[in-house]
Amino acid sequence: MALTKIGVIGAGMMGSEIALVMALAGKHVRLTDRDQASLDKAMANLGGVLDKGIQRGFYKPEDKTRALGGIETTLDLGLYRDREAVIEAVFEDEKIKGETYRKLDAIVGPDCLLMSNTSSIPITVLSSYWPAARRGRFLGTHYFSPVSRMALVEVIPGLDTNEAAVTDAFALCTEAGKTPVRIKDVVGFAVNRLIHIFWIEAIRLVEEGVATPEDIDTACRLGMGLPVGPFRLMDGVTNNLTLDVQEILHKAYGDRFLPRPLMKQMVKAGYNGRKYGRGWYKYDKG
Ligand SMILES: NC(=O)c1ccc[n+]([C@@H]2O[C@H](COP(=O)([O-])OP(=O)(O)OC[C@H]3O[C@@H](n4cnc5c(N)ncnc54)[C@H](O)[C@@H]3O)[C@@H](O)[C@H]2O)c1
Repeated sequence: MALTKIGVIGAGMMGSEIALVMALAGKHVRLTDRDQASLDKAMANLGGVLDKGIQRGFYKPEDKTRALGGIETTLDLGLYRDREAVIEAVFEDEKIKGETYRKLDAIVGPDCLLMSNTSSIPITVLSSYWPAARRGRFLGTHYFSPVSRMALVEVIPGLDTNEAAVTDAFALCTEAGKTPVRIKDVVGFAVNRLIHIFWIEAIRLVEEGVATPEDIDTACRLGMGLPVGPFRLMDGVTNNLTLDVQEILHKAYGDRFLPRPLMKQMVKAGYNGRKYGRGWYKYDKG
């Protein structure tokens, strides 16, 4: 039976748009965060995402009414007691996620499907913050940014996740218009391992003076059919986050993920990307 009552915890960049795709799929969504200001900001951002989507023809005006009407924001986690599935998208911090699970455990029913959008913490490690009886229904669902546009979800079962939970997560992602792929619980899952090898080599090309970031982006768009080149994409993701992930991958897999010196310089200088006014490109701030 389809899961229809969805809870999302963390209304940041990822959680807010996960709530959006669920509401667009006709789900009833509760969205929570630490404070009202974060929830208000998230709803205002979603209004902007929908308006832009309507202009570009991705959405119809009635989708906006339906989607925003389908998301109820709340600061009261107690209201999650009726949720059939909960997706956690709080900060990438094991302790904060663990504390969130501890609170949720006292609230949701025993059959609730529990998912984390973590991008780098092993699911089996996060699973250990749940009591043993919950671990069968807990797994990773790794969405990609911007969630409203990117179709992929990596579905990552942990050591104790049961097959029914995997099936339910696949169904939920599919209903939300996404394409799930099953990935083993390894550091970086699959897409981050691929993309960081590519980005590290792109930076190496710049360090060697082989081509400029602009020309490499052009080459990747026109020669590889990518919608956006690596430097423009790193500026969107932010260089500080990119470096953090590369350090995690380096620790797990060794020198093939060694972060490049130029990347470290950029981050030290605060040239972290679009929202900082400067990254590999220069931007108007604001
Ligand atoms: N940014 C990306 O491109 C991306 C991609 C895939 C996965 N992720 C993962 O998704 C998760 C969220 O990332 P994001 O980029 O949306 O971060 P973000 O900083 O934009 O949002 C996190 C939100 O969680 C809220 N939050 C923090 N602690 C909370 C708590 N205890 N209870 C309720 N809300 C709390 C924060 O106030 C914030 O609004 C992280 O695990 C991250 O690794 C991020």
